[in-house]
Amino acid sequence: MGRLDNKVAIITGAAKGLGEADARLFVREGAKVVLTDVDQAAGDAVARDLGDNAIFLKHDVRNENEWADVVGEAVSRFGKLDVLVNNAGVVEVGSIESQTTDEWRFVNAVSADGTFFGCKHGVKAMKESGGGSIINMASLASLQGEAMFTAYCAAKGAVEALTRAVAVHCAQMKYNIRCNSIHPAGIQTPMVADVPGKVAKAMEQGFQPPATQPSGETRLGEPDDVGNAVVFLASDESKFINGTRIVVDNTMSVTSGFVPA
Ligand SMILES: NC(=O)c1ccc[n+]([C@@H]2O[C@H](COP(=O)([O-])OP(=O)(O)OC[C@H]3O[C@@H](n4cnc5c(N)ncnc54)[C@H](O)[C@@H]3O)[C@@H](O)[C@H]2O)c1
Repeated sequence: MGRLDNKVAIITGAAKGLGEADARLFVREGAKVVLTDVDQAAGDAVARDLGDNAIFLKHDVRNENEWADVVGEAVSRFGKLDVLVNNAGVVEVGSIESQTTDEWRFVNAVSADGTFFGCKHGVKAMKESGGGSIINMASLASLQGEAMFTAYCAAKGAVEALTRAVAVHCAQMKYNIRCNSIHPAGIQTPMVADVPGKVAKAMEQGFQPPATQPSGETRLGEPDDVGNAVVFLASDESKFINGTRIVVDNTMSVTSGFVPA
C-alpha cells in the first residue's frame, strides 16, 4: 500500500529539480500527479516516464488564468484535488543596492504571486474534495538574511507568512485543508548548480559569500531529502501538522559555519 494511495496532486515546477523528485516519489507512493512547468519539453519527458498516473501541463505560475485551467484539468482528469505543491521558484543575485526592480518583480512574481494564486485556486478545489494538503516551497532564505539574494529572501518570506494565513483561515472555516512550508537549503538541483556561477559573478562586484552558500565546501543534499518531507506533509501521517514549517538543511540554519563534508 502506498502512502499517497487515492490522492490527486498538482506539483508546480516539476520538470526538473525538487519538483521532478517530488513527482517521482508521489507516483511511487500511489498518487495521481499533474506536473506543471514552463519547460514543456522536460516536463513532458518526466510525465511520459511516469506513465498513466501522471500528466504534464504547460503552466506559468505567474498567470492566474492558467491556474484556473490547471486546477480544472486536474479535477476533470482525476476527479478531485487532494494535494498542491507550490514548488516553482527562481533566484537572481542582488543586494539591496544592486538588485534591479525587474529582478525583484520577476522573483516575487514566481514565488510570492505564484504561491498566492496556487493557494487561492487550490483551496477552492480542495473544499469540494472534502479537504487537502498544501505544501509551499520556501527556503532557508526566509529564515536568514542572505545579502546576495535580496528579492529571493523577500519572496520566500512572503511564501512562509502566506502559509500561516492560509492554514489559519482554512482551520477557522473547518475546510480540513492543511498548509505548511518546507525550507530547504543546499540541495543538488539545476537551480543550485547555477548558483556558484551567479555567486562568482557577484563576488567580482565585491559581495562576500554567505556562510550557507551551497558550494563545493558544503555537502549538498539530494532532491529526495526534500521529497520525503513533501510526501510526509502530503500524506495523512501529518494530519495534525498545520501552519508550520519543516527545515531540510542539515543544520545550515542553526550554525554560523560550513557543514563538514
Ligand atoms: N535546491 C535548493 O537547495 C533549494 C533551496 C531552497 C529553496 N528551494 C526552492 O525549491 C523550489 C525548487 O527548486 P529547485 O532547486 O528544484 O529549482 P530548479 O531551478 O532546479 O527547478 C525549478 C523549476 O521551476 C520551473 N519554473 C521556473 N519558473 C516557473 C514559472 N514561472 N512557472 C512554472 N514553473 C517555473 C523551472 O522551469 C524548473 O523546472 C524553488 O521554489 C526553490 O526556490 C530550493
